[in-house]
Amino acid sequence: MEDFKHYTVMRQEAVDALECKNGLIYVDCTLGGGGHSKLILERIQPDGRLIAFDVDNDAIAVSRERLKDYKNLTIIKDSYTNIKKNLHSLGIEKITGGVLFDLGASYHQLTKDERGFSFSKEAPLDMRFNQDSDFTAKDLINTYSEEDLVRIFSEYGEERFSKRIAKRITEQRKLKSIETTKELSDLIINCTPKVKSSIHPATRVFQAIRIEVNQELTNVKNTLNDVLDLLEVGAIISVISFHSLEDRIVKHLFRYHSQRCHCSANQMICTCPPPRLELVNKKPLTATEQEIRENPPSRSAKLRVARCIN
Ligand SMILES: C[S@@+](CC[C@H](N)C(=O)[O-])C[C@H]1O[C@@H](n2cnc3c(N)ncnc32)[C@H](O)[C@@H]1O
Repeated sequence: MEDFKHYTVMRQEAVDALECKNGLIYVDCTLGGGGHSKLILERIQPDGRLIAFDVDNDAIAVSRERLKDYKNLTIIKDSYTNIKKNLHSLGIEKITGGVLFDLGASYHQLTKDERGFSFSKEAPLDMRFNQDSDFTAKDLINTYSEEDLVRIFSEYGEERFSKRIAKRITEQRKLKSIETTKELSDLIINCTPKVKSSIHPATRVFQAIRIEVNQELTNVKNTLNDVLDLLEVGAIISVISFHSLEDRIVKHLFRYHSQRCHCSANQMICTCPPPRLELVNKKPLTATEQEIRENPPSRSAKLRVARCIN
């Protein structure tokens, strides 16, 4: 795995936010190449503990090697959606220090030819973060109804020509199944008008497919509530997102749980429990200009941080 490349985004900011302390328990839900995990580990010696999750075999293999000298690291090859079950089986009831999510795909996943994420490289349509999962981009493209294709291209990709592209896909697959990234990207180029743009015409559709294949938004939505249940009072949650829909999920959940009252306007006496979170930053933090110059994809990163107070 020497060719595993990933530029850790907002490394200092996301880990500084966790206020790492020796002796406490931390969780990295998206281990990847271990960039954030390494910095956490450096800061929690000698008695802190880090549990790190990833579903990607390459990420697990490379991080096991890179972080092999840290005895207080437990790497788990499973989805962060199973965080409760996994922590309980390790005998951990509460996350006492903090939890980090660095959502989305790694540079390695996006650029490694055979993973099938890239429209600029010929490969089987795959796009799975988890190579052991049995649902690929090829399955999606060849089995989803035209309406569902339109919905995901529009919602997750904000693709203007969703209807046209979905129609062409369903026509094409009646003749022969669509198997490769190149076939799909040529189909998109051929059925959409030539517009002057700095982005490739297939960018948005490929992003939408990736989100759907890996259930990225559903996973975040379903897991954040479990994570809140696991946080000890004082523990911190730090989330980096790259997609506006993902950031909106985090923003709404943080806002809801940091508000004092959710009663209707005509209710005289508030019956709400005390808020569970306190926002550490009201507005999301973004990457510095220098980081954006060094690693342009970091320009879309948004970091939100909250502390458990109840
Ligand atoms: C942006 S990368 C993380 C990079 C990492 N912070 C670093 O510094 O190297 C996101 C990682 O999250 C993983 N991932 C995505 N969905 C996941 C899930 N449901 N459970 C566990 N890991 C997931 C991906 O496989 C990928 O390796």
